[in-house]
Amino acid sequence: MLQVAGINFMQQTKSIKDIDICDKHILIRVDFNVPMDKDLNISDDTRIREALPTINYCIDNGAKSIVLVSHLGRPKGKDSKFSLKHILKRLERLLEKNILFAETIEQAKELQNQYQGIILLENIRFYPEEEKNSDSLSQKLSTLCDIFVNDAFGTSHRAHSSTYGVAKFASQKVAGILLKKEIDSFAKALANPIKPVLLIVGGSKVSSKLALLYNILDVVDRIIIGGAMSNTFLKSLGYDMQKSLVEDGLLEDARKILQLAKDKGVKVYLPVDVISTDCIEGNRRVEISPAQDIPSNFMAVDMGPATTKLFNQVIRSSNTIIWNGPLGIYEDAQFSRGTFSIAHTIGDTYAFSLIGGGDTADAVDKAGERDNMSFISTGGGASLELLEGKILPAFEVLDKKD
Ligand code: 3PG
Repeated sequence: MLQVAGINFMQQTKSIKDIDICDKHILIRVDFNVPMDKDLNISDDTRIREALPTINYCIDNGAKSIVLVSHLGRPKGKDSKFSLKHILKRLERLLEKNILFAETIEQAKELQNQYQGIILLENIRFYPEEEKNSDSLSQKLSTLCDIFVNDAFGTSHRAHSSTYGVAKFASQKVAGILLKKEIDSFAKALANPIKPVLLIVGGSKVSSKLALLYNILDVVDRIIIGGAMSNTFLKSLGYDMQKSLVEDGLLEDARKILQLAKDKGVKVYLPVDVISTDCIEGNRRVEISPAQDIPSNFMAVDMGPATTKLFNQVIRSSNTIIWNGPLGIYEDAQFSRGTFSIAHTIGDTYAFSLIGGGDTADAVDKAGERDNMSFISTGGGASLELLEGKILPAFEVLDKKD
């Protein structure tokens, strides 16, 4: 199976623990792209916390210097709103160490020569060459290190200078502790799972999950399809979805996926009842109805109680659960019940549960179930591409075990 072969290949990546780092200059690509509120306060520092084991490992094992490189947001040129200075204080507090800040690579180099400690480089996306994966920037970055460590799982699907190109110029390039933990968790769920394996897939668009659905049919035993994307599947079966969000161009694909699943013996579960509303905002009417009987001009926004019961039963009898995408408009208290109930049930099982990053991780967090999941990925886009069966660029360029 292609998917399993890809995961096994990525698991062969050498890790920082496989090499001697004593007295070496280390550049760590981290993913400090954390959510912030309008006053630029960090609203979730999970990604910073998850980078600490690798940084501490370098300190404890005698690294000569550590330069941390990350992006923040998608700035168009230099924009102080996206400065990594907003991350500095939190990082210092979590590490309990002073950290020097370098505006440029040249300044980082100077600091590195004078001071043996931790240096945080300004947002690497302030360099327009970063996203172009330019050789000149990659080479410049490599002058900061004897060893390049990639620990930015959240950005491992991007072939940029700091995640991909730099490896070409670094003599040693290895995975950090987080990158290794992520790939080992995906391997547990995809390459070596305890059956039955359940995929729960949600979110608003089938289009963004098409590759995943086609690819994963060889790996899983069951699929729950919820969220707005289930509307397209229900419509493909002939249901009148009224004003619900539907991707009409994908009805044929939806039918094809259902048929392929049937041929491969994969059971697919769709909502049998839904919560619907006549408008999302403001003065609204809300109804519960069978999925075949949505009131005229209403749109489905959450699963109904019978569906919640059915899905929870499927979850309870699964031994491996992969969840990607919320199952309703969970940000709205009135439409969050389905998603939160699923999160509670998964949190209650003894199954190995792997939660895709992004919105799914946020929903689990809001449901108060973060600590009850086996593994929550720090990468939304990256975990989706892994589930699609892709080999992530960041892994491709790192050294492999002998
Ligand atoms: C993410 O948050 O998904 C990563 O940090 C990657 O960010 P990007 O989508 O802007 O490349």
